[in-house]
Parts: sequence; C-alpha cells; structure tokens
Amino acid sequence: MSIFQGKKVLLGITAGIAAYKTASLVRLFIKSGAEVKVIMTPASKDFITPLTLSTLSKNPVHSTFYDKEDENEMWNNHVDLGLWADIMLIAPATANTLSKMTSGTCDNLLLATYLSAKCPVYFAPAMDLDMYKHPSTKTNLESLQTFGNIMIPATSGELASGLVGKGRMAEPEDIIDFISKDIASKLPLRGKKLLLTAGPTYEAIDPVRFIGNHSSGKMGFAIAKAAANNGAEVYLVSGPSSQTIQHSLIHRIDVTSAQEMYEACHNYYKDVDIAILSAAVADYKPKNIEIQKIKKKEASLVIELAPTKDILKSLGVAKKKQFLVGFALETNNEIENARKKIESKNLDVIILNSLKDKGAGFAGDTNKITIIDKDFNEKIFPLKSKVEVAKDIINEIISRINA
Ligand code: CTP
Repeated sequence: MSIFQGKKVLLGITAGIAAYKTASLVRLFIKSGAEVKVIMTPASKDFITPLTLSTLSKNPVHSTFYDKEDENEMWNNHVDLGLWADIMLIAPATANTLSKMTSGTCDNLLLATYLSAKCPVYFAPAMDLDMYKHPSTKTNLESLQTFGNIMIPATSGELASGLVGKGRMAEPEDIIDFISKDIASKLPLRGKKLLLTAGPTYEAIDPVRFIGNHSSGKMGFAIAKAAANNGAEVYLVSGPSSQTIQHSLIHRIDVTSAQEMYEACHNYYKDVDIAILSAAVADYKPKNIEIQKIKKKEASLVIELAPTKDILKSLGVAKKKQFLVGFALETNNEIENARKKIESKNLDVIILNSLKDKGAGFAGDTNKITIIDKDFNEKIFPLKSKVEVAKDIINEIISRINA
C-alpha cells in the first residue's frame, strides 16, 4: 500500500515552465491513493490550464481569493486549505515565490495558504542556472529549510533557456519518491518490530471437527495495518480468518491451534519491541484428538477438555524490553477483571471490551474500548469503526513508548 493512501495533498503551482509537468505529478498522487487539491499563482496559468489540473485532481483549482466574474464564487479560504492538507508541495517553486515565501509576502492565494499551512511543506525549486546560483536564491533556499520546509533539490540538465546546468525541477516520479521516503523516515514506529495475534484458534476434536469461536480477526488486522502505516514491521500471527492484508511491512504467519499460536509468538517475541495480543484464543482444547472421525452414536458424547497455554501470560513472564498489550473481553465486573489481568499477566496496557456495550465485540465492524494501564489509569473511547479503534490503540502505544 502506498504511503500516500488517503493523504490530502495540496499542490501549489507557480509560474515556471516546469509547471507543465504538474499534470503528471497530480496523476501520480491520485494513482497512489492521495486526494489532491491544486492552487496556482495567477501567472502559472500561462503554462498549464486549471482545467487540466481540475480534471486530473477531480477538484476545483483555485488561483485567487475569489473570482470577481463569477457571482456564485465563494471566498477561497486559505486557512481552511492550509489546515485541510496533510502535505503541501510547491512545485515548481520559482525564484520569485521562494523569495516571497522567505520574506512572508502574502500577495496571492498560494502564499497565504503556505503561511497558514500546519502540515509539512515540500518545495521543488525550478529556474535557470544563473538564477539558481545567485546568492539571494541560495540564501532563500537555506532560510526556507531553517523554517522547517523540506527542499526537493533541483537537478542538472538542459534548461528551457537552452543552457545546461542546475535548476531543473526534479522529475514528478522523483518528487513522489523523495516525499514518500521522507515521510517513511519520520514515521513514529519506524525501526520498531511488533508482534500481533489476531482471529480465533481452532482446537481439533477429530480430523473434521473443532472447537472454535466467532472472532473474525477484523480488530487485529486493523491494528496490523495501523501499526504498519506508522512504520512498524509487523509479525501478524493469525488464527483461521477470512481477512486479507497487503502491506510490505506486514508478515503474516497463519496458525490454527492455540499451541501453534503459542509457538509462533515465542519464535518472534524476543526480537520485538511491542506485542499486542488481540486473538480470541481458546482456553480449552480436547484432551485427546481422535485420529478417525467420531461416529454418531445413540448415547451422549463427552469430550474431556484440557487447558491451553495462556500465551499472553507466558509473554508476560518472558518480558524484557517489550511493551506488552493484552485484550480483555468481559461481560461483568469489567474494570475489576481487566485490572486483575494487567497484574496477573504483567501487562503494560489492557484493551477492555465489554459485551454490555452495543457494537463492541467479535464479528461487527465497530468496537468500543477502554484502555487501562498498569497504574490503573483509564481512558474511555466512544463507539467507533474497528479501523478508527485500531488507530487509537496504536496512537496510545506510540505516546506511551515515546513518553
Ligand atoms: N490469551 C492468550 N492465550 C490464551 C487465552 C487468552 O494469549 N490461552 C490472551 C488474549 O489474546 C487476550 C487476553 O489473553 O489478549 C485475555 O483473554 P480473555 O479471554 O479475555 O481472558 P482470559 O485470560 O482467557 O480469562 P477469562 O477467559 O477467564 O476472562
């Protein structure tokens, strides 16, 4: 999955010949799952039309605070645009705009939006070689970087003037690559390894039957995705689940029984920084697995059950550096039971689901959680989609491991 998936990208275009390449830039962002809005300086419209960019970005393109000729036109709120964006990219960034960005000049919509943006701002300079070399440009490029803006360096080659040298805007593919690497390098869980269990376990009775539960794996898979989107390398140990997942940072290890899940977890545990056990592990398994299919008889059938290993508890015992997170699914005395589990299983945090809460639990797409830490501080979250709950859980872990 692309790092731009679901990201809001605000592209500011200024009046350089490289503006013609921004059509490809918009296409590449859209193809990688981003939502794109474009702001142009008035002069940049001589190089590429707003119609091209609005068609490609599927959004209106703005270049003025309002359009005097259109009586239905609304004020284009630069503050809203600046706050909307997850990323702002100014490409091409001409010497003129770079100078205005440096001095805080605010005489067009693009510059006003730049000054209002709270997100990371990238800029890709483009100009002729002597303009690029000029001390004033050099000073502006340095100043902008000290403001925290991120420069995507110009490259060398033949310029529009026919001269050869440095000043070409980086190619659209290279701009995308630069930004995605920059984002990846700053993700809060980058370099961290995370073990995660998800789904149910099946405990065999005979070759065709098992004891299982209704866990879908949705919560665990959503956590895997949220963790990987934050840069963690995830070892997802999953019981039988129809969920699918595609992410370069997620390694899926399929298991069936509690014993297999136990072995897989211990295989990875010593190397991970964080472990989250969201699986609904069977607490009991048939003491003996029949080799042949059990035949139907008149008399009732008794299956003797033996306890499975408590994986979470065993990880609590083996814990060294790991931040250990358990789940508790309770029907009564929720807080008290969850607190007991924190202590008995040596957890850092427990995620409590109460079956009393409508919309919480196994099969659905929503969940309602309370996060309790080992000092028994409680954080109650409202009912949300499992995807949002997963983000809350990962954000909570990030804030705690970085505290
Ligand atoms: N868990 C586990 N191994 C087991 C059973 C549970 O790792 N054999 C983990 C679950 O993944 C969850 C936590 O333990 O993170 C709590 O599971 P839960 O079923 O709520 O609690 P139990 O400890 O099994 O206690 P009880 O069923 O009595 O509430």
